[in-house]
Amino acid sequence: MSFQPADTLKAQFHILNSVDSTNNYAIGRINDGLACPGEAWFTEEQTAGRGQFGKSWTSEYGANVLMSVVIEPNQALFEDQFHCNMDISLLVRDFIQKMTSSPVLIKWPNDIYINDRKAGGILIESKFQGKIWKWAVIGVGINVNQQHFEPDLHAVSLCTLTDEVMEPKSMAMDLHKEILEFFQNGNKLDTEGTLSRYNRFLFRKGDEVRLIIDDMSQLCKIREVDQNGYLNIECGGKLRKLKNGEVIWKL
Ligand code: BTN
Repeated sequence: MSFQPADTLKAQFHILNSVDSTNNYAIGRINDGLACPGEAWFTEEQTAGRGQFGKSWTSEYGANVLMSVVIEPNQALFEDQFHCNMDISLLVRDFIQKMTSSPVLIKWPNDIYINDRKAGGILIESKFQGKIWKWAVIGVGINVNQQHFEPDLHAVSLCTLTDEVMEPKSMAMDLHKEILEFFQNGNKLDTEGTLSRYNRFLFRKGDEVRLIIDDMSQLCKIREVDQNGYLNIECGGKLRKLKNGEVIWKL
């Protein structure tokens, strides 16, 4: 089966009221053999929303974008999982940038940051059959209208930046459409190259930041992300490549 425009047009956008996690829901549909490529689920509320590394993702009822889209990555021309992550991060970044004049950046690997605060997160979960990458579930959370966040989340919503209340459901529909269009067109319009564009929008690129690596707090310079998805940093004159999950940022 290939990911043709006709399939794309049929891809449905479902609206749920409450669910544990839209990623769980999408994975359940895949496991039951009921998911179609491009299908999306939006919800007003998650009772057990999930972030990266087993963290939770919390959101007030109806305030934010909470959506998962299923894709068949084999047909989508991705070199690997990190390229998928970069493309989706850039797509979500570009989408959010249209709504604010403040620069929207990507904190490696796929957090969306505005003014040093987290405005969105992406959780991509993959399903392999042997070595074949069968499915990916792209879970996107965007803080849209929520006014208050736990201070330790360092979060911000678009509404607090723009003073405009937006409609999360229609935002999610627009984002879904852009994701579908991206899979239809592939990278055809991308002349700059994904990695170089990703590095252009890399949060704190060229800056000295305090990072905790191996339980040690160190001042390091963020250099770039390389083609293998490692974050290249410079600490005490030494170059180092970090894997996802190896570092805690002290912002
Ligand atoms: C992160 O920054 O840690 C990733 C957060 C991803 C949150 C979204 S909200 C929709 C989808 N369902 C989930 O349970 N998680 C993702």
